Amino acid sequence: MQNFVFQNPVKLIMGKGMISSLKDEIPSDRRIMITFGGGSVKRNGVYDQVKDALKGHYTVEFWGIEPNPSVETLRKAVELGKKEKIDYLLAVGGGSVIDGTKLISAALLYDGDPWDLVLAGRRITETVPLATVLTLPATGSEMNNGAVISRTETKEKFAFYSNYPVFSILDPQVTYTLPPHQVACGISDTFVHVMEQYLTVTGQSRVMDRWAEGICQTLVEIAPKIRENQHDYDVMADFMMSATMGLNGFIALGVSQDWATHMIGHELTAIHGLTHGHTLAIVFPGTMNILRKSKGEKIIQMGERVFGITSGTPDERIDATIARTDEFFRSLGLTTRLSEEGIGESTIVEIERRFRERNVHFGENGDVDGVVAGKILRDRI
Ligand code: NZQ
Ligand code: ZN
Repeated sequence: MQNFVFQNPVKLIMGKGMISSLKDEIPSDRRIMITFGGGSVKRNGVYDQVKDALKGHYTVEFWGIEPNPSVETLRKAVELGKKEKIDYLLAVGGGSVIDGTKLISAALLYDGDPWDLVLAGRRITETVPLATVLTLPATGSEMNNGAVISRTETKEKFAFYSNYPVFSILDPQVTYTLPPHQVACGISDTFVHVMEQYLTVTGQSRVMDRWAEGICQTLVEIAPKIRENQHDYDVMADFMMSATMGLNGFIALGVSQDWATHMIGHELTAIHGLTHGHTLAIVFPGTMNILRKSKGEKIIQMGERVFGITSGTPDERIDATIARTDEFFRSLGLTTRLSEEGIGESTIVEIERRFRERNVHFGENGDVDGVVAGKILRDRI
């Protein structure tokens, strides 16, 4: 196990009807800006619950943070927030609303363009306090300090790090209205978050390995149940917990991390607009295959413990594990090949070019550059 320092300050408030606790969690003298996406919260009653809980507070609303939040939209929120002298932010939505609000929370205390903060490449810790009401289990953004921000005009999408939310409210009932494609992408995103922190080398930490495998086993078990009945409270609660625990730092303690699949996936979203979790379902089996030499032992462990694959030569077990992973994504209703999305060689060449220009070295061994990313993508045509 590697050395580490761990501190996650987010207060998790989980369960039925917990949105009402907003009134006690946010001091009554704060000037709050509530941020939203495109309106799903108006249709499923979340908006009414939030407004009802905060009726004694001063609130301003900002609507329209889109999937893959763009700096172009967020600039408008920052302008409104500065005008209103906002000193507390409440993000109500999925990862995009929460991520976008993380950038707003830093930009409210910054005089220049918010995009500067994304490009700064360092964690920004001078921020306005932010809390969340999560409506889509997937990103873990409700319990981490990361965000991913897009710039539409240049088709770029980059990670940004700031402060953790003060608290996050998770009521599994709010997930009942999710479109099935978003559920599929949320499960795929969660699965691959775990893999980015697990599928590296064996023998670093028994306890982290089993946490990670436990989350993936849970996802494999509940995915068909969710497809059958998205209104099963306990199943949706397990989905929500899997997503939050998958990317709040817990399973990363003392172990190597990869993240190459995510970096390649972000480019597919930036260029083609594919939903984040979907890009991962396409790319991840390719990462497994192309990096099968360095990851082989861990792939075999994963195959055995997550999918019950126990026989065959090492190569056969690796092949079987990759095939089962691909099948799992397809069972969610996602395509797993670039060609199925009309994506081909020209996009691969563009991603190779971007990675070469940025001189990237992703993955636990720093060996995923433009050339290797190209191989991973060609494996998925
Ligand atoms: O905008 P509204 O109308 O609210 O609709 C949203 C949106 O269209 C809808 N939705 C959310 N909750 C709903 C609902 N519809 C009905 N009922 C509900 N309860 O779902 C759509 C997608 O929402 P979005 O927030 O974009 O999804 P997600 O949570 O998957 O977030 C994706 C973004 O997070 C980034 C991704 O790159 C992407 O930009 N990520 C953030 C991470 C982080 N902060 O740590 C890590 C991840 O790896 C990821 O990269
Ligand atoms: Zn992700």
